[in-house]
Amino acid sequence: MLSGIKFVFQRILRSIGIDAYLRKTGYHYVWDYYGKSAHKQRDVRKQPVFGELAGAVVDNKRSSLYYDRLYTIYQILESLGFSAQKGDEIKMVEVGIYKGGTSYFIASLAERLGLRYSHYCFDTFEGHKAEDINKSVETDHTSGLFSDTSFESVQQYLQKFKSVQVYKGRFQDRCDALKDMRFNFVHLDMDIYDPTIFALDYFDSRMVKGGAILMDDYGFNSCPGIEKAVHEFTETHTDYFGMALLTGQYLFVKL
Ligand SMILES: C[S@@+](CC[C@H](N)C(=O)[O-])C[C@H]1O[C@@H](n2cnc3c(N)ncnc32)[C@H](O)[C@@H]1O
Repeated sequence: MLSGIKFVFQRILRSIGIDAYLRKTGYHYVWDYYGKSAHKQRDVRKQPVFGELAGAVVDNKRSSLYYDRLYTIYQILESLGFSAQKGDEIKMVEVGIYKGGTSYFIASLAERLGLRYSHYCFDTFEGHKAEDINKSVETDHTSGLFSDTSFESVQQYLQKFKSVQVYKGRFQDRCDALKDMRFNFVHLDMDIYDPTIFALDYFDSRMVKGGAILMDDYGFNSCPGIEKAVHEFTETHTDYFGMALLTGQYLFVKL
């Protein structure tokens, strides 16, 4: 009886353009290309290690990534841990770290998984630079966006991780710090075309076989430069397995 009333009530509201659902903790509104059974998926936040470490950076608001995109990173690191030879050092890079929350997640996860690792983190810490804004591509991104952070505060936040190094400046100007290294995992999150295509070209010859490059903001209307960079890179590089994820990320795996 009650469910019948609820159904009729929902139909009436829907006819005037309003969707009404009983509030359920842990859910919110997303695109309806997720199937009706999406709610049956288990809650990844209840996974002990992931839930605890992702929850810490989501709660302190230092990461722009939410649980869904952090979960992709979790899976990549877990997989690197399985495939690494015992004792091998896992080399990781992040370009575009802003307030450092995602770097904290990566480092704390690597330590919890018992990986021997180095993690190199780059940002201007002054937001986008005018010379990186390609006006024919960027729509929403202007110079100075993301400047509400600082090298000093991020370095202090990450200082407990002895295997993390933070570099200040445009990646194009600081990448020499990485010369002669090869990488297992690269996370690119600069939102704009010019430094992103530069970084893809830079890392191409420096990825180990099976190494992963994870791009953030792929398919976001606000970041057309990322889609452009991914497509250009894909057209000219056939030695990668590439996959767009519904989280708004794009994953390249070096073959
Ligand atoms: C969306 S934010 C990164 C968010 C961060 N990954 C997180 O998880 O919270 C984009 C960052 O890219 C940085 N950035 C833009 N151009 C850059 C460049 N040429 N070199 C290094 N960092 C750059 C900006 O300063 C900004 O902090």
